[in-house]
Amino acid sequence: MRARQQLGKGVTLTTAIIGVGNIGGRLARQLVGGDEPVVLAAKDEANAEALANELGPLARADSVEDAIANADAVVFAVWLDTTRELIAKHASLLENKVVVDPSNPVGFDADGQMSRTLPDDQSAGAVVAALLPVSTHYAKAFGTLSAPTLASGANREPRAVLFYATDDDTAATTIERLIRAAGFEPLKAGGVADAGRLEGPGGDLHQFGLNGELVDLDQANAAIAARKVTA
Ligand SMILES: NC(=O)c1ccc[n+]([C@@H]2O[C@H](COP(=O)([O-])OP(=O)(O)OC[C@H]3O[C@@H](n4cnc5c(N)ncnc54)[C@H](OP(=O)(O)O)[C@@H]3O)[C@@H](O)[C@H]2O)c1
Repeated sequence: MRARQQLGKGVTLTTAIIGVGNIGGRLARQLVGGDEPVVLAAKDEANAEALANELGPLARADSVEDAIANADAVVFAVWLDTTRELIAKHASLLENKVVVDPSNPVGFDADGQMSRTLPDDQSAGAVVAALLPVSTHYAKAFGTLSAPTLASGANREPRAVLFYATDDDTAATTIERLIRAAGFEPLKAGGVADAGRLEGPGGDLHQFGLNGELVDLDQANAAIAARKVTA
């Protein structure tokens, strides 16, 4: 297996996107637009196949298991409980891979009311990271914007920032590449201990914590520093 540190620009990186709904579908479209190959999987394989056919030669569909097995990076674009289930089921396949987690700890009741599914002091990022094999390179990313904003905010000039959080240099290299390919400027907000800042509800670096706004690099650096000063 090639060293994950080698997955910088110029080396082919295969990204599995598990889930092709609001976030996974848009992310797949944007990564393909940025020339990154993607392998798509969903609960119903026909949904992944339909999107792969639409996106063309850089996209293909596979089962969840095979998509993970053959990827360098795996984005779990599914709800947090599903991420937990899929990690438990496929943990050995995730050894040494980059795992990208966009999940927010939210659920919806029968009336469509959103509520937090974890205690205030616990982030989805910390939960997911703790479930992964120690050799997995974990990054929190791609969950800070609503799905429509992820699409409409891409490829602006100057580029809008997408925050990420990781404790891992290999994950940082890969997630920066994927964020750039998706049409945004990557900025590290901190480590896994800071993942909650990127999650809604409540995270100050989540779009809803930034009054729904996209931020440029100067604004993003100021937002990161503001909380550190007052914390
Ligand atoms: N929606 C947003 O604006 C937004 C913004 C930021 C972060 N997020 C986060 O992104 C994640 C996904 O949200 P979403 O809105 O994109 O969800 P979604 O539209 O409901 O899509 C969920 C996807 O997960 C797939 N899935 C469900 N169970 C699966 C399984 N066992 N194996 C493989 N795939 C499975 C579904 O497959 P099928 O297609 O076959 O049903 C579907 O493609 C969540 O954690 C959410 O917190 C969402």
